[in-house]
Amino acid sequence: MSEPRQILVTSALPYANGSIHLGHMVEYVQTDMWVRFQKHRGNQCIYVCADDAHGSAIMLRAEKEGITPEQLIANVQLEHSGDFADFLVEFDNFHSTHAEENRELSSQIYLRLRDAGHIATRSITQYFDPEKQMFLADRFIKGTCPKCGTEDQYGDNCEKCGATYAPTDLKNPKSAISGATPVLKDSQHFFFKLPDFQAMLQTWTRSGTLQDAVANKIAEWLDAGLQQWDISRDAPYFGFEIPDEPGKYFYVWLDAPIGYMASFKNLCARRPDLDFDAFWGKDSTAELYHFIGKDIVNFHALFWPAMLEGSGYRKPTGINVHGYLTVNGQKMSKSRGTFIKARTYLDHLSPEYLRYYYAAKLGKGVDDLDLNLEDFVQKVNSDLVGKVVNIASRCAGFIHKGNAGVLVAGNAAPELTDAFLAATPSIAEAYEARDFARAMREIMGLADRANAWIADKAPWSLAKQEGKQDEVQAVCAVGINLFRQLIIFLKPVLPLLAADAEAFLNVAPLTWNDHATLLANHQLNAFKPLMTRIDPVKVQAMSDASKEDLTASQTDTGSAAPQGNGELAKDPLSAEIDFDAFAAVDLRVALILKAEAVEGADKLLRLTLDIGDEQRNVFSGIKSAYPNPAELEGRLTMMIANLKPRKMRFGISEGMVMAAGPGGEEIYLLSPDTGAKPGQRIK
Ligand code: MSP
Ligand code: ZN
Repeated sequence: MSEPRQILVTSALPYANGSIHLGHMVEYVQTDMWVRFQKHRGNQCIYVCADDAHGSAIMLRAEKEGITPEQLIANVQLEHSGDFADFLVEFDNFHSTHAEENRELSSQIYLRLRDAGHIATRSITQYFDPEKQMFLADRFIKGTCPKCGTEDQYGDNCEKCGATYAPTDLKNPKSAISGATPVLKDSQHFFFKLPDFQAMLQTWTRSGTLQDAVANKIAEWLDAGLQQWDISRDAPYFGFEIPDEPGKYFYVWLDAPIGYMASFKNLCARRPDLDFDAFWGKDSTAELYHFIGKDIVNFHALFWPAMLEGSGYRKPTGINVHGYLTVNGQKMSKSRGTFIKARTYLDHLSPEYLRYYYAAKLGKGVDDLDLNLEDFVQKVNSDLVGKVVNIASRCAGFIHKGNAGVLVAGNAAPELTDAFLAATPSIAEAYEARDFARAMREIMGLADRANAWIADKAPWSLAKQEGKQDEVQAVCAVGINLFRQLIIFLKPVLPLLAADAEAFLNVAPLTWNDHATLLANHQLNAFKPLMTRIDPVKVQAMSDASKEDLTASQTDTGSAAPQGNGELAKDPLSAEIDFDAFAAVDLRVALILKAEAVEGADKLLRLTLDIGDEQRNVFSGIKSAYPNPAELEGRLTMMIANLKPRKMRFGISEGMVMAAGPGGEEIYLLSPDTGAKPGQRIK
């Protein structure tokens, strides 16, 4: 065996101003599975996280709730910790960025950067709320879009026409906090001179630290040239004051990643076996990985390594980026009941169902991941209950009835057990590469083989025959051993199932290396059902409850402050739209005049649509469900008629037709009831 590796792992620090939802869980579950795999293999792997507690959004929300920001973040930290624990996400430490370790490290890093000449200062002009006496981030300014004239738009972009602009371009600007008309005011800001690190970043981002797709994206930014980064905010702000600069605070994104170090430092104080410098010092030989979503790549792959380099710390070994969660093929939506909070899920379903489903869908790339609720039920029931647990429940009874629960020695299926052994390195590689989907596919392939072998031997028939008792025991011993192997492979994903299986198998906690041995002459404990099927009724109840969450939050937050820290682009998934945004969508009944395959496009159909007063040409990716497109001709459907025309390789697409389903053959074009006329608006 090689030396155990020393690995420090983080997940992005969740904002302390909102609840954890199933989108977040893609990240925390994925990181946890990887960490558990490393521990299972005997490596030293430390997993730290924290709440991201600073920023104006948190300050304003606390004010609105009539509590201090400290109280707010303490409440949220409790909530978040509970959600993570119940999803079996096992941090070695879950800290907060509003902590003494973080204040010290942030000040130290800033001072080192400053003293090395990497900080610049200059005055910038910004909108200021004269009533609240505070500068306003773009998201806290509303006004009339300078381009299309729509009222009530945020200071950075228009939700109606999509224009992006500076807040000073808005007509009739108002503070979203007080309603006052903002005034322009100058203030001194501090900038981190990112361009100083251009050459280092060019090399570092191409040195195997990033997935290819991410490295390519970063290369575009690097080619375009880096800008200095504004790292200061004026009081009032909930955060850390900048050393030697009273009234100036670190921008939340400056101290947030330092929160990774701070959480680890906090852990070191409790764990004398851990040495901070061994993990963070310039010459550290430990590995350091950050798991993050694709929306925060710039902070982790540009600013963060530059900050570390400039202040004399080591840089990450890798940044592991994942895509976004969609539910039933779409962005999570409050009104559809697919904006599901972690707690709402837990109220109805076991965490391991979702952990397995995510594992089965998560590749090593940055693609988005779809939680299709029907597929979720089907896949979990068929794989975990139908394949894995089934092996044990088929075999356990015979061993208890026929041999007092003692699993006999011998190996009645050497080829099959060898195949399990031979598959181990490949499964380990898939886990290591975060290709959980491949690991799950290979494991389920083995489960299929085990089931087929047992079905072929049919111990249930043998048991009825005279003189076949030994054969029954031999077959079931193999079955239980193969089940044990599968549990070893699945343990990083399904720790509870593994614990229950260990209790049934009457063995010490299984580790990866146990795959090399088989149980023989071994007493089993009584078999209890290890996992029950998902009842679709519960999934429905979870969706219904998610809709109720929405009604509740609408009444208690009124005109809520925007989510996030108020200074970043909107979280695309918390996007609740107001009625005006909905009304802006021109939905029409459309008659399909012509439907034909598009040469050179695998998935597309070209549709000619009649919407009353005009005809539209629309390309739609529904070919897999309609291999004979002509059958669609004459059918009514629904289209979005005011979608900006999109130039495609095959022509211009002038709108979009509406369909449901996860994709592939399961795409269902929507149609109105008979009687609807082409061109009628859908309201
Ligand atoms: N506070 C920052 C991170 C600071 S790290 C130094 C933040 N917080 S967040 O709560 O908005 O997101 C936390 C993590 O969850 C991010 O990596 C983000 O990409 C991820 N996700 C949030 N919503 C998600 C989905 N719907 N799907 C997948 N991951 C998503 O960003
Ligand atoms: Zn506009």
